[in-house]
Amino acid sequence: MTRYESGDEATRARIITFANQKGGVAKSTTAEAFAASLTTRGYGVLMVDMDAQPGNLSMHVDAEKGLPGTFELLEHRRPARERVLRCIQPTRSFGDVVCANEGLDDADRILSSRVGRELMLSRALEPILEDYDFVVVDTPPALQVRTLNGIAAADDVVVPCMADASSIAGMQAVLDCVAEVGELVRGAEPRIAGIVVTRYDSRNSLEPELLDQIAEIAEQYDAPLLGCVRNTVNARKAQSNGMALVEFAPNSTAALDYEEAVTAYLESIGIEEDDIEE
Ligand SMILES: Nc1ncnc2c1ncn2[C@@H]1O[C@H](COP(=O)(O)OP(=O)(O)OP(=O)(O)O)[C@@H](O)[C@H]1O
Ligand SMILES: [Mg+2]
Repeated sequence: MTRYESGDEATRARIITFANQKGGVAKSTTAEAFAASLTTRGYGVLMVDMDAQPGNLSMHVDAEKGLPGTFELLEHRRPARERVLRCIQPTRSFGDVVCANEGLDDADRILSSRVGRELMLSRALEPILEDYDFVVVDTPPALQVRTLNGIAAADDVVVPCMADASSIAGMQAVLDCVAEVGELVRGAEPRIAGIVVTRYDSRNSLEPELLDQIAEIAEQYDAPLLGCVRNTVNARKAQSNGMALVEFAPNSTAALDYEEAVTAYLESIGIEEDDIEE
């Protein structure tokens, strides 16, 4: 496993959580693209799927839903390393995954009766953080308890956002929420790593104007625009093949845009490509 920090001291993975309150803005597509790109660049990556919807990230990476996954990961207050390892499975090209299995909606009921319910994911990941360089967390389209767990666990929050009014409102809700969660987890506050504009269609006359609006809001929150991912017909084809866009069409305009966004993200945390150890 490649480490981006040298020396004998073990390093902890950086946790990147992808969130927008609005549905269908390409949260999962963006999380998958980051995981695939970071894996290709030689980093050790773990994906955690917090969304049980059909057609989710777990399905795109061919995860085995019969095995323990996110539900089991969140079930115990501070799971031991062995228990956490049982929830992890390998994938073809996205690193490892904790998959969203059917019991996950039940996790909300269990979580909601717990003291410190927003911190369950953060605590559950603690025993395996030294095994990876990055943990990529995909969240459901609502600021509910699983999404709050994703944000509370995060070092970096990336907000995928389409150039439309309701996605922008969903983006703002997340940006405000990150600050509130920061108050809860004093000393380990999540940082807004940036915005990725998704499914962008410059031929649609409204979108350039809305892109300017996204840039303005991003500036107010001191959040960089990490990239602008073009709309592509390959996404629909990937979807109907049950695959991630970046795996189905790695040379598509959108996949190339995602590569640039990942490079911008890495630069934002002080990693230039040359720093990667072979
Ligand atoms: N660059 C793109 N061009 C065109 N369509 C895209 C692009 N990226 C994603 N899509 C499509 O947008 C739809 C929503 O994508 P995705 O499932 O990643 O969004 P999501 O925010 O995770 O949704 P949900 O809120 O339901 O979890 C999918 O049908 C996907 O194929
Ligand atoms: Mg999704």
